[in-house]
Amino acid sequence: MERHAVQPINSVTRFGLTQLLYTITTILFILFSTAAAATQELLRGFTSTPDPSVSSFQALLSDSTGNYSLGFIRVKQTQLALSVIHVPSSEQLWVANMTRLPKWSGPTRLFFNGSLVISDSHSGVFWSTQTDGDRVWISNTSNLQIEKLDQSHSILWQSFQFPSDTLVENQNFTSAMSLVSSNGLYYMMLGSDFVGLYARFNPESDSNQIYLKHKALEAKADVIEGQGPIYMVLSSDGFLGMYQNGLVPVDVQSFSTFQQRGSGIRRVRIEPDGNLKGYFWTGSSWVLDYQAISDPCELPSSCGSYGLCQPGKGCSCMNNRTDHSSGGCDPQENNSGDFCGTNGDDKYWVLRRNGVELPFKELMGYEKMGSELQCERACEVNCTCWGVVYSNSSGFCYMIDYPIQSLVVLVFGMVVGFGIFRVWKRKRGVKGYVEEDGEVGVGPYKNLGSASFRSIELCEK
Ligand SMILES: *[C@@H]1O[C@H](CO)[C@@H](O)[C@H](O)[C@H]1NC(C)=O
Ligand SMILES: *[C@@H]1O[C@H](CO)[C@@H](O)[C@H](O)[C@H]1NC(C)=O
Ligand SMILES: *[C@@H]1O[C@H](CO)[C@@H](O)[C@H](O)[C@H]1NC(C)=O
Ligand SMILES: *[C@@H]1O[C@H](CO)[C@@H](O)[C@H](O)[C@H]1NC(C)=O
Ligand SMILES: *[C@@H]1O[C@H](CO)[C@@H](O)[C@H](O)[C@H]1NC(C)=O
Ligand SMILES: *[C@@H]1O[C@H](CO)[C@@H](O)[C@H](O)[C@H]1NC(C)=O
Ligand SMILES: *[C@@H]1O[C@H](CO)[C@@H](O)[C@H](O)[C@H]1NC(C)=O
Ligand SMILES: *[C@@H]1O[C@H](CO)[C@@H](O)[C@H](O)[C@H]1NC(C)=O
Repeated sequence: MERHAVQPINSVTRFGLTQLLYTITTILFILFSTAAAATQELLRGFTSTPDPSVSSFQALLSDSTGNYSLGFIRVKQTQLALSVIHVPSSEQLWVANMTRLPKWSGPTRLFFNGSLVISDSHSGVFWSTQTDGDRVWISNTSNLQIEKLDQSHSILWQSFQFPSDTLVENQNFTSAMSLVSSNGLYYMMLGSDFVGLYARFNPESDSNQIYLKHKALEAKADVIEGQGPIYMVLSSDGFLGMYQNGLVPVDVQSFSTFQQRGSGIRRVRIEPDGNLKGYFWTGSSWVLDYQAISDPCELPSSCGSYGLCQPGKGCSCMNNRTDHSSGGCDPQENNSGDFCGTNGDDKYWVLRRNGVELPFKELMGYEKMGSELQCERACEVNCTCWGVVYSNSSGFCYMIDYPIQSLVVLVFGMVVGFGIFRVWKRKRGVKGYVEEDGEVGVGPYKNLGSASFRSIELCEK
């Protein structure tokens, strides 16, 4: 009885609730899809300015999955970069290459007029794709693209062609590109049959130091001269493949998750320490999957300028009176250039150290010489030389034409590697330096009186 009386009310309620739910769902769906559609492409006329209330990332455009987003990212609090990030981790996958960065403030704006442009009313254009496209969008693989909306739907510009420090899965890294670390010190480039990692140790010189060279092993296919340049692709199967043409790789560098297919995505990045690392996304974090250099002492500048790396023990300073932990060993804040035109060699100290070697000496040029003294003289007479390392077991003399970076300490007691390095006395301007006495340099040296500095200087010229 009771049940019968109640039931009609129930049906009515149910009907009403269903109706309401349907309406709400429809409204939400419409709202959501409109909002999503609005941020999944930018059309001509789009313009946006940085929001002062945003503290780190201001999203402007996202891909269809919501995994990737293009937006303004804060740099040093007050500046702005344009970046594509992986949303769940906030990891930057691409950043627009600007020589100077605009301010995170009103006059700065991003607009799309056929070109995607960043400019401000005072400084003009900071960055532009210089295209004549109709639509900007991000593929579900994080590729930012500018497209023409004609029959061909041709892609006029894509971020995959201008990588920053990161490559993602199936992104084609060609011999026309370079991957540059965020601090600008290290880069990766392809050669005719190898991939190389290079360091810009001397900002005032064009000659850069290669510190890692991986030649194609050619196990499955050979690199054939005259068959075009090689290129490299990060495979979903967990390896970095080198190809010349076709599908058969000329080289495979496999990661720890090689051939482990999962839903996760992959990326490789050239790190600010010069290493090349591969990562795998588990759904909640990035797991290290590969690193080109596994021994920290083999990194191009593991302990910084004038540092020493002892395997298993860490960093110290070549001048062992300076404490590495107090901020590095570099005696000069502006350590660059050469010694040419200095007219008189009382402008630098000479620092010596026994039992050391260069971390990547097999990639450096050398000359065979009869003695350490001969090696040292060759450097003395050459104003672009910053130092030498002589090995009296091989007789090889390695000349270094950039401010000396880190050396590796040889096994205790071995006296085979001799390092002799030039160290600027206090420098003034670009190539003028006076002030022989008084406190030397800056940073860790500032507490050292000239007397204590002198005791490590074995030959003052
Ligand atoms: C993001 O990408 C992963 C694959 O890595 C995918 O499984 C997931 O569905 C994507 N997220 C969204 C919101 O679509
Ligand atoms: C878009 O704006 C830039 C910067 O103001 C300008 O140089 C360019 O000519 C414009 N392009 C078009 C198609 O109007
Ligand atoms: C990404 O887009 C391609 C088509 O461009 C599609 O085949 C694929 O399923 C999409 N992947 C995801 C995770 O949405
Ligand atoms: C950015 O551009 C400069 C010169 O315009 C170039 O030297 C540098 O390699 C570029 N950086 C990247 C990451 O491509
Ligand atoms: C990658 O780029 C090279 C050189 O431009 C080209 O020959 C090759 O076909 C490209 N591969 C893919 C998969 O796009
Ligand atoms: C400092 O280095 C010199 C060689 O340059 C070495 O003879 C001396 O033993 C070192 N001192 C300490 C405390 O390690
Ligand atoms: C290298 O020089 C050191 C010191 O002059 C000497 O003790 C050592 O025997 C030499 N080693 C060789 C292989 O000549
Ligand atoms: C001077 O040293 C540089 C390397 O530092 C070398 O490339 C150059 O050939 C040397 N010049 C002479 C005249 O030996």
